Amino acid sequence: MKRREFILAGAALAATSLLPETPAWARGRKVRLGMIGTGMRGQVLLKELLRRDDVDMVALCDIEPVMLGRATAMAAKAGKPAPRTYGADGDANAWKRLLEQRGLDGVIIATPWELHAPMAIAAMQAKVAVGCEVVAGITLQDHWDVLNTQLQTGTPYMLLENVCYRRDVMAVLQMVRAGLFGELVHLQGGYQHDLRAVKFNDGNPDHPYGSGVEFGPKGWSEARWRTEHSVTRNGELYPSHGIGPCAMYTGINRGNRFTHINAFASKARGLHEYTVAKSGGTTHPSTRVQFKLGDIVTTTLACANGETILLQHDTSLPRPYSLGFRVQGTQGLWMDINHGIHIEGRSPAHEWEDFKAYQDQYEHPLWKQHADTAAGAGHGGMDWFVIHAFVEALKARAPMPIDIFDAVTWSAITPLSEQSIGNGFQTLEFPDFTGGLWQQRKPIFAFDGRY
Ligand SMILES: NC(=O)c1ccc[n+]([C@@H]2O[C@H](COP(=O)([O-])OP(=O)(O)OC[C@H]3O[C@@H](n4cnc5c(N)ncnc54)[C@H](O)[C@@H]3O)[C@@H](O)[C@H]2O)c1
Repeated sequence: MKRREFILAGAALAATSLLPETPAWARGRKVRLGMIGTGMRGQVLLKELLRRDDVDMVALCDIEPVMLGRATAMAAKAGKPAPRTYGADGDANAWKRLLEQRGLDGVIIATPWELHAPMAIAAMQAKVAVGCEVVAGITLQDHWDVLNTQLQTGTPYMLLENVCYRRDVMAVLQMVRAGLFGELVHLQGGYQHDLRAVKFNDGNPDHPYGSGVEFGPKGWSEARWRTEHSVTRNGELYPSHGIGPCAMYTGINRGNRFTHINAFASKARGLHEYTVAKSGGTTHPSTRVQFKLGDIVTTTLACANGETILLQHDTSLPRPYSLGFRVQGTQGLWMDINHGIHIEGRSPAHEWEDFKAYQDQYEHPLWKQHADTAAGAGHGGMDWFVIHAFVEALKARAPMPIDIFDAVTWSAITPLSEQSIGNGFQTLEFPDFTGGLWQQRKPIFAFDGRY
């Protein structure tokens, strides 16, 4: 075993032993959580956390008083004790004080992307468990830094990738595990979501979607920070919704790994055309911005076990939402876009069958058990499951079902795709963040029916 692999192996074992002292919930109290970033996403997650009777939300932080006010109002409406608040004074470092709050067990990070890595690193160093919204970092180095901090501190870290918990996605996981598709050969997924009305608005907190063409400091919510990434970056900017399920199906970091990656980007037209059409001319400053992000970014990954995975990032053109999943093996395939499945010997030859009967037959135990509780939660219920998983793993002192290796492997697709495109669509070797551990690690995601 090489020295680095040895260190990683030891650290990974340490990571499973998690928090040093007897956990609070074992002594009969609730899990005490904080949240940094109580914006649009934070509030969706907060709703799920406030519904739980095993969680106390003890701290909230946002530098935008409107967002912080909405979140504290939610806690009050839920009849919960008022969380301590940080950031109302606009101090961009207020989150550091939140991490010092006594008795904090974990923190949910739902801030702009560029803040995820520094906030997660500081939290792990403070022994505060991290539930981090997608993505794990910006640069490749960020990803190594987040990984190394987790391995050195042993503090639990989970990427809150909710699509892994989508009902059909989880039924397909059961099908894959049952061998219904035979041996997997090729998978597809992506983030195919028309975000034009998210990337621009008029800056009014009450009209966050499609109300104008401002972005940056004059924009509101994601228009304030996300759009800038379309100006300065060209790559697969949001990989985890697509790659998360595909990685779980193929056992990435658990008997399999990505070996190579390349990415192609189309020309960039959609955001410019949108701002011109929306503002009725070319005088608004947003119409003169050069957007670097290609409208369609296509990324291909090769896996050690011989599968290929194709991801598409498609957020700047008119289209209905679809993540575009396809899971194909030697015995058949599923595609979500047509709710279709074809299994050789079971489906009529060369014909699609409707997926619904298969979904019912292969319903994941988690959905069988919790569908009623999850009903009404964000994104068709999957937001309830992702929060449930984080809290339950924390309570059980068990490994996080979407752990640090998953987080950095999925999220590093972004800087690697940028590098590939920047180098003329070059094929790159994919780093092995597990340092060889992928060969021994076993699947844990949603395995025992608990989370
Ligand atoms: N998993 C999903 O389905 C899903 C859906 C939407 C968003 N997201 C992710 O959630 C994250 C947040 O997105 P959003 O839509 O809520 O954006 P948002 O802009 O509405 O919220 C981000 C919040 O972070 C706050 N913030 C910024 N700097 C801060 C600082 N220094 N300290 C404390 N707070 C700070 C902002 O004031 C804002 O309220 C992003 O990573 C996004 O990609 C995930």
